Amino acid sequence: MNAKTSLKTTKSSLPPTPYYLLDEAAIVANMQIIARLCELSGAKALLALKCFATWGVFDVMQPYLHGTTSSSLNEVRLGYETFGKGKDSDNEKETHAYSVAYSTDEIDEVLSYADKIIFNSISQLNAFKEQAAAKGIPVGLRLNPKTSNSSFIIADPARPFSRLGEHDKDKIAAVLSDITGVMIHNNCENDSFEAFSDSLADIEARFGDVLAQLEWVSLGGGIHFIAPDYPLEKLAERLKGFSEKYGVQVYLEPGEASIHGAGSLVTSVLDTMHNEKNLAVVDASIEAHMLDLLIYRESAPIAAINKESINILPVDMAKTADVVDNTIIYGRSCLAGDIFGEYALPNQLQVGDKIAFGNAAGYTMVKKNWFNGVNMPAIVIRRLDGSIDVQREFDYQDYKASLS
Ligand SMILES: Cc1ncc(COP(=O)(O)O)c(C=O)c1O
Repeated sequence: MNAKTSLKTTKSSLPPTPYYLLDEAAIVANMQIIARLCELSGAKALLALKCFATWGVFDVMQPYLHGTTSSSLNEVRLGYETFGKGKDSDNEKETHAYSVAYSTDEIDEVLSYADKIIFNSISQLNAFKEQAAAKGIPVGLRLNPKTSNSSFIIADPARPFSRLGEHDKDKIAAVLSDITGVMIHNNCENDSFEAFSDSLADIEARFGDVLAQLEWVSLGGGIHFIAPDYPLEKLAERLKGFSEKYGVQVYLEPGEASIHGAGSLVTSVLDTMHNEKNLAVVDASIEAHMLDLLIYRESAPIAAINKESINILPVDMAKTADVVDNTIIYGRSCLAGDIFGEYALPNQLQVGDKIAFGNAAGYTMVKKNWFNGVNMPAIVIRRLDGSIDVQREFDYQDYKASLS
């Protein structure tokens, strides 16, 4: 399939709010860091589609990454069609398949898109390994090292009673002849090289002799190596040493690191009120358009108000507790706690003001929903040459079609 022909015609003037605005130059800046890490370490990087799957910008990501990884049939198909061999049969990009659990009726289709398939459990491996072998597709197993770097229990793959991967070494050793690699994902926005390295050392202590019998090891995502002060060279050296010690190809699955700082959600103020504090309501909703704010109880950074790029941090992050007259910015859904954040703003907001919330590319667009029938933000892309493409707009028919 040709990605370009299936897109709606693009327009060059900005649409009405709300819209997600993606900045290709910022994406490429992240890509260059990822490519450097790969070059120094020998690792291969696969975009984690669960985090970001807005394929209208894949053309600028493709030159830097080795492929995509997925968490479902739909994601593996999207990766294959828009980034992998389904897009262009000559390209070398890999499409990895993984799911917490595959169903019997989808496995053949999954295998038709996959260059590698990773099963979450030994029972899934046993159920589907022959179908994978018949198609000559290398098979992996997810391991759970029972330790992690995650500050959120809801996102902790090593949480008590976790279903994410196998932990029993004897059971894993017994299926080694069925697999050529493993995937271990146990970091979440981890910006400490030391913590990453210590946790890799744990993995080595626990599974070292298993690793030595494999061809490839994916270390998942969650490593925040694009932070400006992250010691990228040290990480590269650690990964290279790991790869050489066990004789394995290392894969990384960066999601957030690929698009961090590259997207905003642009909204307009629809109403202002006062209830002991200044209140404003914008034409988007965290529950529908930036769901992780709700799940992780976080506030959105403000990237710009009107045309001013001011980078205002939420009050709790900016530690301005003594500032009076903070403004709470609410979403327009009926959820009482639909709150983008509380901010100490330079001016009181007025109806019609435009507010752009930052960090709106990862785990936002992939989770958007039609709660309350709130207008779905359009997708706008600022291309590398500075031009603006209104890539996709949504209307009532999209809402209606999503329900019956
Ligand atoms: C298996 C796996 N790989 C990669 C990722 C991407 O992680 P991140 O977006 O934090 O880099 C995740 C996130 O949950 C994951 O579960």
